[in-house]
Amino acid sequence: MKLAETISAAADYLLSHVQSRPTIGLVLGSGLGDFADTLENPVRVPYAQIPDFPQPTVAGHSGAFVFGRRCGREVVVLQGRLHYYEGFTQQALTLPIRVLAAMGVKTLVLTNAAGGVNLGFHAGCLMLISDHINYSGQNPLIGENLDAFGPRFPDVSDLYTARLRAAVKERAAQAGIPLEEGVYMMFSGPNYETPAEVRMARILGADAVGMSTVPEALAAGHSGMEVIGVSCITNMAAGVLPVKLSHQEVVETANRVHDDFHRLLETILAAI
Ligand code: HPA
Repeated sequence: MKLAETISAAADYLLSHVQSRPTIGLVLGSGLGDFADTLENPVRVPYAQIPDFPQPTVAGHSGAFVFGRRCGREVVVLQGRLHYYEGFTQQALTLPIRVLAAMGVKTLVLTNAAGGVNLGFHAGCLMLISDHINYSGQNPLIGENLDAFGPRFPDVSDLYTARLRAAVKERAAQAGIPLEEGVYMMFSGPNYETPAEVRMARILGADAVGMSTVPEALAAGHSGMEVIGVSCITNMAAGVLPVKLSHQEVVETANRVHDDFHRLLETILAAI
C-alpha cells in the first residue's frame, strides 16, 4: 500500500470506533502521559489493532490512539511517543500525526521535557514554544511529498501560530499560571548536549534544547494543522550549572510540576 492509502485506511478504521470526530490532538512528553486517563468516555485503539498499520520496530513500544472528551472538546491523545533517537525515521514517527490530519484534527498540542538554555529560566518553569530550530539533521518531510496533505515546499513562518499563542498566554495569565515563551532547538540525542553545544544553542537563539517535538510539528504544519508546543524545563541545560544531568532529575522535575502542567493543558484546550 502507498503511504497515503495506509494513512487514510487507518483514519477510516479509527473513525469507525468513535461517535464524534476529534478536532484536537495531543502528544504528551515525559511526566504527562496520564492526561489520557482524565478523558471522559475514553476509547483506546492500539496501533497493533489497526489493519496494515506499520508497527514500531523498536521493542517495548505499544502506541495507541485514545479518544475522548475533555474541557468540552473532542480530543485524541497519541499514547507512547516515538523518538528519533530510538531509531525511527522521522517519516515513520510522524505517521500517527498524518492519521490525525486525515481524521480532521485541526490543532495539535505537543509537550516535552527540555533543558533550559535561557539563563533567565529555572528548573520547573513552563515555556510556550514560539518557534524552533531543527538541529536534528533529519526532516520528516524528506521523501515523496504527500500532496494530499500539503505542498513540497511548505511555509513554516507561523508554525506555532501567533494567534493561538496569544490566546494561550491570555488564558494562562488569567489562570495565574506563569508561562515563559521561547525557541526550542532539537538535538537528535540520546546523549544530553555538551556544554559547548549549549553555548552554541544560546548564540543561535535557542531558549531550550530537547530531543523531540520538531518532527511532529513539521508534519502537522505540512498537513495544515495549527500547532501549540509547551516545554517543561526540567533542568538547566548542560554546563549552565555545575551539576551533572540525569534522567532522574528530568523525571523528578516533571513530576513536581505535574499539576501546573495539567492546569496549563486545560487552559490550552479552553483557548483553542
Ligand atoms: N537536553 C535535551 N533534552 C532534554 C533535556 C536536556 O537538557 N532535559 C530534558 N530533556
